[in-house]
Amino acid sequence: MSQQSITIRRPDDWHLHLRDGAQMQSVVGHTARQFARAIVMPNLKPPVTTTAAALAYRERILAALPESAHFEPLMTLYLTDDTAPDEIRRAKDSGLVHGVKLYPAGATTNSAAGVTDLKRCWRTLETMQAVGMPLEVHGEVTHAAVDIFDREQVFIDEQLIPLRAAFPALRIVFEHITTSQAVQYVRDCSGACNTLAATLTAHHLLFSRNAIFTGGLRPHFYCLPVLKRENHRRALVEAATSGDPRFFLGTDSAPHARSTKEAECCGAGCYTALHALELYAQAFEDAGRLDRLEGFASEFGADFYGLPRNQGSVTLTRSPWTAPASLPFGDEPLVPLLAGQQINWRLGQV
Ligand code: NCD
Ligand code: ZN
Repeated sequence: MSQQSITIRRPDDWHLHLRDGAQMQSVVGHTARQFARAIVMPNLKPPVTTTAAALAYRERILAALPESAHFEPLMTLYLTDDTAPDEIRRAKDSGLVHGVKLYPAGATTNSAAGVTDLKRCWRTLETMQAVGMPLEVHGEVTHAAVDIFDREQVFIDEQLIPLRAAFPALRIVFEHITTSQAVQYVRDCSGACNTLAATLTAHHLLFSRNAIFTGGLRPHFYCLPVLKRENHRRALVEAATSGDPRFFLGTDSAPHARSTKEAECCGAGCYTALHALELYAQAFEDAGRLDRLEGFASEFGADFYGLPRNQGSVTLTRSPWTAPASLPFGDEPLVPLLAGQQINWRLGQV
């Protein structure tokens, strides 16, 4: 008989978008129910570019949490061409900023203020390396000549390899990887190397790019980096379920109001904070590797970031339920991934 439940150490989400204001208020409880901590992305409007702004954002997140929640937001800064080395030192000294996010300018939602040329950040990256501040990387090039499905692999060759050669001790998280080339690149980093890791989303483990086009155009499957071919999906599942500690959980849950998804020009992002663990459990079960979920979800990320593993546990039960058609999001609806569809696993009490 197939396994009916699984109990794991309380997990963390190492890549999350919470937005701000009433929208954040609507979604933060979902993540707090699923995860003990989350690395909170800084791509607000305006972006979170200073320690002071990150600490103020953190206070707003804490104030928006449901009373019963035990959840710790782990803050990040948004790297720009002008981020000063001193800002990195302030961030490190705060003890509350756990990474600096590289968005190549124009790569994704709210990335216009991102980095136009990494060379402009050299001194800042040097400081990050020196003080031990991780760099979280949206790994896609943006030049129009590069096919959108190839942006990640070109980024490895053009940006990541020279970056790691220049800063071998800089700790880098290659975020939401989507290709077999990215898996291979992370793996090739030699056994003793503990400076490079990658996060994987539930949607990239479960779906190939076919999902975007099944029976018509499906905006709720559109995210960045865009879903890739089935052979890439399989490589991601293999990496996630391999027990290799350099691959760990990061949902990239990215809420967008329904009106901006079901639109002529659809925003990029999938909303998975509602049912993230259930989706990951499905992917691990499909691979016959539920036993490897705990390391991926609850251990390897904390170890990489140098934070203690959580106390306590969560239980997932095989108990099918239907994902809601929509959820509140400020004063608009938000459509979760797999809205209206059956989810096989269920977190918490049945
Ligand atoms: C993210 C968002 O909406 O903020 N969108 C997405 O498709 N993942 C930005 C990002 O992480 O690329
Ligand atoms: Zn993201």
